[in-house]
Amino acid sequence: KIIPIILSGGVGSRLWPLSREHYPKQCLPLTDKEYSLLQQTLLRTQSLEVGNPIVVCNEDHRFLIAQQLQSIGVKKSSILLEPKGRNTAPAIALAAFETQRTQSEIAELSDTLMLVLPADHVIRDIAAFEETITQAVELAKKGALVTFGVQPTCPETGYGYIRSGEDFAVAEFVEKPNLEKAQAYLESGEYLWNSGMFLFSAKAYLDELSAHRNDIFQSVQNAYQQRSEDMDFVRIDAQLFAECPEESIDFAVMEKTKKAKVVPYHGDWSDIGAWDALYDYSDKDSDQNVLLGDVMSEGSSNCLIRSESRLVAAVGVKDLVIVETADAILVMDKNNAQDVKKIVKRIQTED
Ligand code: GDD
Ligand code: MG
Repeated sequence: KIIPIILSGGVGSRLWPLSREHYPKQCLPLTDKEYSLLQQTLLRTQSLEVGNPIVVCNEDHRFLIAQQLQSIGVKKSSILLEPKGRNTAPAIALAAFETQRTQSEIAELSDTLMLVLPADHVIRDIAAFEETITQAVELAKKGALVTFGVQPTCPETGYGYIRSGEDFAVAEFVEKPNLEKAQAYLESGEYLWNSGMFLFSAKAYLDELSAHRNDIFQSVQNAYQQRSEDMDFVRIDAQLFAECPEESIDFAVMEKTKKAKVVPYHGDWSDIGAWDALYDYSDKDSDQNVLLGDVMSEGSSNCLIRSESRLVAAVGVKDLVIVETADAILVMDKNNAQDVKKIVKRIQTED
């Protein structure tokens, strides 16, 4: 049996003004009219043999997330509430303890695997996704920590790079290399991007975490033991969890473990981090525009324009992102999409 573990810690501030502190990007219907990224992530697993999902998220998003799960028909889940995120190594460790607890109650622990999925990735090719997972199951059952490798298309420095050896072995895992290295990895043709999705048993992950970062293992264990439960919500002890070192699974475990395996994934995959990525991912009209909502264009091209509440008209402009919401409007050169973060920071500090 496979337990979907959904990592839903971020806010996605580069997608402001649509994403807000209390309405993170994974809860928005960004690429689909009906379902949010989080809902799409769960729906994607429905044809695999899956158990009740575990979502790890910030305390502030609990009702929003509970409601989104309910509205896609999830009857029972564990929603692990982090008072403050400590990055993915602790978040996944919490989910591993929760998996051990809930599955041991039904005596199925030995063949239970955790399928760790970021809540904010987009995948359209469900068949390729399922095929890759099925391949990975065999490796994970034997105790491997399986990652899914994506063919790189540019020297992106925000990703992990994996060189694969024989029989799916990971010969090398390098998290977020500098540009020079990323360029060399890309040119060598020997590296895959780490997709950020993982498959392993709770025991395999916790064993490797305690072998390589026992400090993280111990503090998560302490914080988890002092949890309080309230229906599907599992609240983690704030003080103890705050003592946990902040680190990603990639640096804490995947770069160090000898049990890593990589299964190539050949379908589409996108991590919609900023408005330009959403533009690239979306279908365009004949002027290469992506127009969403009540929008009119005359002679504009290469733009992403999204309206939430009013008519937005764009005349003769190029390469712009325009996002209209009830209380804020963003007008931006598409090439500066990463800088939205700076505005969000200013809003937070100048308030
Ligand atoms: N619950 C919880 N708590 N979730 C978290 C936390 C946390 O403290 N921190 C991050 N997450 C969630 C994010 O919301 C996202 O869905 C996922 O975990 C990955 O975190 P990112 O912060 O987006 O990681 P990244 O993009 O820098 O790098 C990872 O993903 C890349 C692919 O997108 C790494 O795994 C890279 O190796 C990989 O290439
Ligand atoms: Mg990411």
